Amino acid sequence: MKRVVVQAPCSTSNLGPGFDVFGLALDILHDIAEVEVLDENRVLLKIEGVEAQRIPTNPQRNSAGRAALEFMKRHGSAGVKIKLLKGVPPGSGLGSTGTSAAATVVAMNYLFETELSNRDLVEIAAQGEIAAAGAPHADNVAPSIFGGLTIISSYNPLRVTSFPPPRNLVFSIALPKGIRKTTRKARAVLPKNVELSKTIRNLGSSSLVLAGLLLSNPRLLGEGMMGDVIVEPKRIPLYPGCLEAKSAAIDAGATGATLSGAGPTIIAAVDPESVDPREVANAMREAFITQGIECEGYVGRPTEGAKVIDRDSMISRE
Ligand code: HSE
Repeated sequence: MKRVVVQAPCSTSNLGPGFDVFGLALDILHDIAEVEVLDENRVLLKIEGVEAQRIPTNPQRNSAGRAALEFMKRHGSAGVKIKLLKGVPPGSGLGSTGTSAAATVVAMNYLFETELSNRDLVEIAAQGEIAAAGAPHADNVAPSIFGGLTIISSYNPLRVTSFPPPRNLVFSIALPKGIRKTTRKARAVLPKNVELSKTIRNLGSSSLVLAGLLLSNPRLLGEGMMGDVIVEPKRIPLYPGCLEAKSAAIDAGATGATLSGAGPTIIAAVDPESVDPREVANAMREAFITQGIECEGYVGRPTEGAKVIDRDSMISRE
């Protein structure tokens, strides 16, 4: 086996109060990594697709490149040539860097027949996130690898619990164009210490998020997503239009809305029995447009994790 092509889904993390803990794979966008074995001991990276020009191709500064280097270091594998086809815009809050790292490590596991568990692949891919965020957070790579809902309950040692994609849950998503952040900056505004009363509030809200996800109950989920009193209040002022879009989602009938990951995308939980999720997405889109910001609206559902979509025993292409 010399070459493999893997597709990985984007993800939303935090879901409001579950900072660096909750992750959910979404079916709206994905990255594709074509990975070939090299005779040399290095990583070559080529990037195409959405906003590719904004993404560094130096492997040390790229999440996929860094994850590949970590894989080589841990498992003594040969180097690889990675061709990334980006579908997930970088800096959007949909786990773009994690999606690329996830696709890369799943491909390398396959190519080198290392038979690593998903948990071990998450640990390697999370090292790639240092390139983007300055910290090896795993809440985006985990859902892109496992699919469905993932919970990072400990970072040291890494503990990941996964659940299949929750059924019958629908989200409206607004991805503003032209506003992009670096996760590093969005983490720099966060408090170093948190009062006990706020921790209790976030814990209660996270419990509702989890109940909502596991019971496929959009009311509980939405209520929980609105209850982050630690992270989102510091971040939402960073992005023009996000507060207005969030309010527009609630006014249009969403059960809750919050920044997706470190933003600026807004994700809203919707009960499709009482409101059309497309209307909620449109309401958010219009709120952004009113603020002079172009925006793409989506309706998304939880989905499966990274998968091999093509494999070759011969390198037949450049
Ligand atoms: N949990 C991380 C954060 C995700 O909110 O900073 C970043 O994509």
